[in-house]
Amino acid sequence: MTEDPVPAAGPAPQPGSEPAHPAATGPAPQPALLDVRDLRVLFPITRGTVFRRTVGHVHAVDGVSLELAAAETVGLVGESGSGKTTLGRAIVGLIPPTSGTILFRGRPLDTKAGAGGVGGAGSRAERSQLQMVFQDPTASLDPKWRAGASIAEPLRVNHIGTRAERRERVRDLLEVVGLSPVHARRYPHELSGGQRQRVGLARALALNPAVIVADEAVSALDVSIRAQIINLLQHLQHELKLSYLFIAHDLAVVRHLSHRVAVMYLGQIVEQGGAADLYRDPRHPYTVSLLSAVPVPDPSAEARRERIILPGDPPNPASPPPGCRFHTRCWLREQLGGPERCAVEEPAPQRVSAGHSAACHFTDEVPGRAAGSAAGQTAGPAP
Ligand SMILES: Nc1ncnc2c1ncn2[C@@H]1O[C@H](COP(=O)(O)OP(=O)(O)O)[C@@H](O)[C@H]1O
Ligand code: SF4
Ligand SMILES: [Mg+2]
Repeated sequence: MTEDPVPAAGPAPQPGSEPAHPAATGPAPQPALLDVRDLRVLFPITRGTVFRRTVGHVHAVDGVSLELAAAETVGLVGESGSGKTTLGRAIVGLIPPTSGTILFRGRPLDTKAGAGGVGGAGSRAERSQLQMVFQDPTASLDPKWRAGASIAEPLRVNHIGTRAERRERVRDLLEVVGLSPVHARRYPHELSGGQRQRVGLARALALNPAVIVADEAVSALDVSIRAQIINLLQHLQHELKLSYLFIAHDLAVVRHLSHRVAVMYLGQIVEQGGAADLYRDPRHPYTVSLLSAVPVPDPSAEARRERIILPGDPPNPASPPPGCRFHTRCWLREQLGGPERCAVEEPAPQRVSAGHSAACHFTDEVPGRAAGSAAGQTAGPAP
């Protein structure tokens, strides 16, 4: 696990806190380009060396439904281990889901093993429309290859164009991501972190995708470089009508470019909604706790901001808690006197407002309780 853990905890954002990015406040375009339905990815846990037997499963993604419209950005957040990468990899075809459906432009994608790789020719053209950009581009760029060769590889593998045409396309792609032709000759170690991420992006764009899953794509970058890459992503979205599933462990990062936000906990989406809506009026105690770690621009609100520190680590996804998965760490349940229902009955997503839902039995209790500083164990004003 390479991501930093999300700072656990927190109170609701203050009234009048910064709205989401202006570009993110408009209505989400319709209809869904990508429609993920009840997706599950279970990893078997095996024992024995001679006779390997399955003794359990890691419930990495456990019944996720999510839509992504054309030219829309959905931010996907949650602590390390919540299943974000697994969901992203399943969507682009790098991991076969255990069950569920992924519709792309209304048609089911072939999700069998290898469908996203060199096999599964039937859906290869569609699969090429879904690309992934990783946190660490050095992991996706071959250190022995010059940047130009890495960018051209998807074209070569798919027998697109002549050598000269591919070279021309690489030049164009470098320009699109803000690099110059000389960068084509550089090896990954000769590039800065931001330049490597731009090369990773150029490679992902080579096949003219409609959807990019950006997995912690800016998490490892310095703040100023991060802002440049986020600006580039927004510019590309505008120019190329790209859709992003933008994965981060930090709600502050996704705020500035997400139209909608989905919050994951232990393999499930516990809340999703329009970005402005979800930041202003979070209705799942877990979202509230994540938001408490996000600084607010209003200095007086910031001075009053208190962080809720969730007790313990997330439970083991091989044996998720019964009932509500969050009940072992939930500050709201504690405030409500520990209702039994939380421990026995799994909450279905409750509609909060148009396009905004939260999977909690007590969504209506959240706003008043979260506003009080007594919410959970607080850590005092953030530094
Ligand atoms: N290939 C794998 N085999 C077994 N378990 C895995 C595998 N990949 C991820 N996991 C487990 O699945 C859970 C979700 O992981 P991941 O999708 O990487 O979460 P995130 O990206 O949110 O940090 C974790 O418990 C992780 O250990
Ligand atoms: S259902 Fe209960 S345990 Fe789960 S988030 Fe709501 S209050 Fe907390
Ligand atoms: Mg991850």
